[in-house]
Amino acid sequence: SLFKSGGGTGFVGGALTQLLRNRGHEVKHVSRHPGKDRITWDDLSRVGLPPCDGAVNLAGENVLNPLRRWDESFCRDVVASRVETTKTLAKAIAEAEWPPRAWVIVTGVGYYRPSPTAEYTEESPGGDFDFFSCLVKDWEAAAKVPGDATRQVVVRSGVVLGREGGAIAQMLWPFRLGLGGPISSGCQPFPWIHVGDLAGIVSHALEQEGVHGVLNGVAPAAPTTTNGDFARALGSVLNRPALLPVPGFVVRAVFGPERATMLLEGQRVVPKRTQESGYRYSFPDLPTALQNILD
Ligand SMILES: NC(=O)c1ccc[n+]([C@@H]2O[C@H](COP(=O)([O-])OP(=O)(O)OC[C@H]3O[C@@H](n4cnc5c(N)ncnc54)[C@H](OP(=O)(O)O)[C@@H]3O)[C@@H](O)[C@H]2O)c1
Repeated sequence: SLFKSGGGTGFVGGALTQLLRNRGHEVKHVSRHPGKDRITWDDLSRVGLPPCDGAVNLAGENVLNPLRRWDESFCRDVVASRVETTKTLAKAIAEAEWPPRAWVIVTGVGYYRPSPTAEYTEESPGGDFDFFSCLVKDWEAAAKVPGDATRQVVVRSGVVLGREGGAIAQMLWPFRLGLGGPISSGCQPFPWIHVGDLAGIVSHALEQEGVHGVLNGVAPAAPTTTNGDFARALGSVLNRPALLPVPGFVVRAVFGPERATMLLEGQRVVPKRTQESGYRYSFPDLPTALQNILD
């Protein structure tokens, strides 16, 4: 089968593309830049969605880019790169003569209010309290396609761990130098997933006819993992101490207060519907995931 993926050129998209191709599917990307096996967003708006079996959106300006200041123009890019691309794909799906059978977007667990104690399943409320939660609500609303020709799935992802990008790529050097450690108290929940499992859940959602609605994209061990657990596990795999806490004021100074909450607070997210849907994790616990990433 043929799948189309917006933002498929990125960190998660790379893992998903490889997994789908290994499973015998053909994959093409929707990108800002033309190239082999790609169409651009302009092409998509102009000529519509070419016939395909599934569509995925993974596009999004990197929120934790430390080189970009948190100002109005950055916020606009963060929102538009997610909500507008999702609207463009949803519109193309709605207007397609042969609509895809499945349509999957990856949003975030920022939908749920950070708390050291509350546990969230896919049915829990959210989406109504800060910039990121409202962004996820608008992003998921933008994905809605009328009718039932196309099965719709939203994967709310936690912090994605992998070798090629995301949080670990940003933290590896400080940890290698023995300068890594928990963020602030380290007691905040750390909702994580291995990139191979996030790609696995998206592929499962594309292929399994019964899967629909929201799936939490976190590991089964994520609800009981704290930021301190993560720092210790990473230090131990790297054979380095992970004792130096990064103070909250440093995180706020580098990222600005809005983004700092993503690092200084967290949510205990349970992948209830994901497991009920029959998805089998390859990396259910942190030692297994980190061993695989850093080997
Ligand atoms: N990584 C995480 O920890 C994490 C956690 C939760 C949710 N997510 C979500 O999962 C999705 C994929 O994450 P990722 O880590 O794979 O992202 P990524 O590698 O940073 O970026 C994915 C792709 O988005 C496109 N893109 C970037 N900036 C854009 C802009 N301003 N306008 C339009 N397109 C833009 C790029 O594709 P082109 O250059 O080809 O256009 C890029 O390859 C994102 O929506 C992200 O919000 C990620």
